[in-house]
Amino acid sequence: MKNPGADRQQEVYGQGMLMGETPDIPPNFEELEQRALEAMSDEAFAYVKGGAGSEDTVSENRRAFRKHRIVPRMMRGVAERDLSTEVLGQELPAPVVLAPIGVQSIIHEDGELGAAEAARDVGVPMCLSSASSETLEDVSEELGETPKWFQLYWSKNRDVAASFVSRAEDAGYEALVVTLDTPMMGWRERDVSHGYLPFLDGEGVANYLSDPAFRDLLTDPPEENLDAALSEFLDVFGDASLTWDDLDWLTDQTDLPVVLKGILHPDDARKAVEKGAEGVVVSNHGGRQVDNAIGALDALPGIVDEIGDDADVLFDSGIRRGADAIVALALGADTVLLGRPYAYGLALDGAEGVREVLKNFLADLDLTLALTGHTTVDDLDRDIFAE
Ligand code: FNR
Repeated sequence: MKNPGADRQQEVYGQGMLMGETPDIPPNFEELEQRALEAMSDEAFAYVKGGAGSEDTVSENRRAFRKHRIVPRMMRGVAERDLSTEVLGQELPAPVVLAPIGVQSIIHEDGELGAAEAARDVGVPMCLSSASSETLEDVSEELGETPKWFQLYWSKNRDVAASFVSRAEDAGYEALVVTLDTPMMGWRERDVSHGYLPFLDGEGVANYLSDPAFRDLLTDPPEENLDAALSEFLDVFGDASLTWDDLDWLTDQTDLPVVLKGILHPDDARKAVEKGAEGVVVSNHGGRQVDNAIGALDALPGIVDEIGDDADVLFDSGIRRGADAIVALALGADTVLLGRPYAYGLALDGAEGVREVLKNFLADLDLTLALTGHTTVDDLDRDIFAE
């Protein structure tokens, strides 16, 4: 992707100055979130925005960014930028991937198909959640040739887990992102106070209800007894008994590169590499699992130092704007995953909302890259910081 910032500035200022049209989707994250609040049901907004416990980890994710101050450099010939980069041996147009966000049907009727349409149009890879409201096969078709990864919630039932992996491979997904931080849901006060769990409404379970191994567990098909199917889903969703040695079973199931998501300690990152992972996602799940946890960005440098030469290090939790991505990339991340901002774009205007959020994000990233004195993502390192 080349100079997307210049194109986007021309587009928005042209529309504004020549046609008197201002963007429907706010470029400002805080306003985007506020508008999403108005567009969604109280329960759905709480589900997306919420975090574990007092939500201190959600705040800490942002606080961690403020500790890093960039020192822009001048006169470095930044007219031509190229945002492309290589992750997991794959060429990505830009160091941005849509984070796996489940249950997108509660956000907007376009759901994951809308996010996939936008990802395809803008050229940003998508990591699809196991807990999607559309099947992984349908989302793959919508994505077409766009790079696509599948996020696995490792089911307690090994037949279901193996079936998800082989379906993802068959559907053309190019990496398996295994989320380790959610063998069970965290204690999320907003959802508890609403008594709200979208899966019990039949949302976010499309991959399960369509899965032959899952259906084999049911006495009656979900079309005849949905309640029993949803209760089975809750039963097999996660596996809190897993230990590092279980990973051998998983890597035996697939030839896809395996990436472990939710890593926050260098020792866990080292374990991941020893067990054959080609990458890790440094993430605290957007603060949704453990309250009073370390800000994800604070965990990043130590993990890069530990395994950066041996595996790819991906990052999410707190990325809101282009400069956030620049900071994470300079600390050694190979790419960032964008989470809540695109969910809020989806809430406001479905696929079109996600498209706008992505275009704004890429523009901001590109312009900030140039204005700090860099032309490629690989140029970024810790020298950009004041400390
Ligand atoms: C998530 N996340 C997530 N992660 C995952 O591996 N599988 C999933 O199904 C989901 N679902 C999900 C739903 C919602 C509503 C949110 C907000 C997040 C976590 C996601 O991939 C990512 O780690 C966080 O969104 C990063 O935090 P920020 O940057 O969005 O605050």
